[in-house]
Amino acid sequence: MAMIHIFLTFSLAFSDYGFLRGVTSLGINYGQVGNNLPPPENVLELLASLKITKARIYDTNPQVLTAFANSNVELIVTVENEMLPVLVDPEQALQWVSTQIKPYFPGTRITGIAVGNEVFTDDDTTLLSYLVQAIVSIHEALVQLGLDNIQVSTPNSLAVLDQSFPPSAGSFKSEVSGVMSQFLQFLSSTKAPFWINAYPYYAYKDDPNRVPLDYVLFNPNSGMVDPYTKLHYDNMLYAQVDAVIFAMARLGYNGIEVRVSETGWPSKGDPNEVGAAIENAALYNRNLLRRQLENEGTPLRPNMRLEVYLFALFNEDMKPGPTSERNYGLYQPNCTMAYNVGLSAPSSSSSTSSASISLTSSATKASNKEYDQSLVYWMFVHLLTFQVFMRRPF
Ligand SMILES: *[C@@H]1O[C@H](CO)[C@@H](O)[C@H](O)[C@H]1NC(C)=O
Repeated sequence: MAMIHIFLTFSLAFSDYGFLRGVTSLGINYGQVGNNLPPPENVLELLASLKITKARIYDTNPQVLTAFANSNVELIVTVENEMLPVLVDPEQALQWVSTQIKPYFPGTRITGIAVGNEVFTDDDTTLLSYLVQAIVSIHEALVQLGLDNIQVSTPNSLAVLDQSFPPSAGSFKSEVSGVMSQFLQFLSSTKAPFWINAYPYYAYKDDPNRVPLDYVLFNPNSGMVDPYTKLHYDNMLYAQVDAVIFAMARLGYNGIEVRVSETGWPSKGDPNEVGAAIENAALYNRNLLRRQLENEGTPLRPNMRLEVYLFALFNEDMKPGPTSERNYGLYQPNCTMAYNVGLSAPSSSSSTSSASISLTSSATKASNKEYDQSLVYWMFVHLLTFQVFMRRPF
């Protein structure tokens, strides 16, 4: 609780100078795989107290959509994966939008529909064949009902990438690239974002001896330089996002915005889940929040603020899998903080503390607009290199 007071103090101070405009666009994932979570009305109060105005749910739960009506919280809702085969049918999609979305809009500020979650890498590989048609059917239903301000996309796991390091080598796995091209065509023509669920935690857990913890936690560190673009990265999340941008460019798509639909760090894990610990979770989220306050973009797109949705609001006790899965929450189900991330409710008055958030940045915030152009150039160089390589007689 100690951080609350400090955070508020500097919030107010910096608002005066207009530096905080970005914090209003912080998003959070409101998962509900728990049997002990508070009712949506209380969740809305919690979000309001945190000044969080963007949330995503993993279904179209009518209780949430009703409770969030007339609030200032923008919601992304989700079509469950198992619905995809049904929703390829335009009639069914129209029916779905008419019953799940239309009755709540615009009272409830639904801004996006996630059609499935991580479908490209789902264990059920048949799902992928329905994805793009389901997306198109939902979009056309929205158009028909005059609701097409609502963006349609699908969140992807980082496992869609074949290469992610260095970022300029970013490429999609060959087995998904056919459907991926169709999906990117849809995003490009509707100006919808590419959503990536990106967890530097996994990279650390899988190779803690070689992946520097400070680099994944956004702590001060020397970082890495992409040998091809010469861009400097001081954290893994931004490198992962830029790898996605390069992967899209390899398929011929340059103008699509990448948003982080999930990122987070578990505060607890099994003994073999290296790095899953409360201190690391607090550092990761706190450092990321601090960077969000600065409206940062990634090194490749320094002038385009990176939108991020944290995962997750609550620890969810009914999630299957290793212990970490049930411990991503910033909050316990009883609405007490799982750990202090420096984002907290004004209502709790508090106590002494030492200021531990400062807004000094270690970021390389390039004002260099030419980076925006560099992508095309480096793609060109890569293609040349690739061709030379291919021509080598073996
Ligand atoms: C809230 O839940 C946590 C974890 O279950 C527990 O440790 C804590 O004592 C609870 N706090 C209150 C006020 O009930």
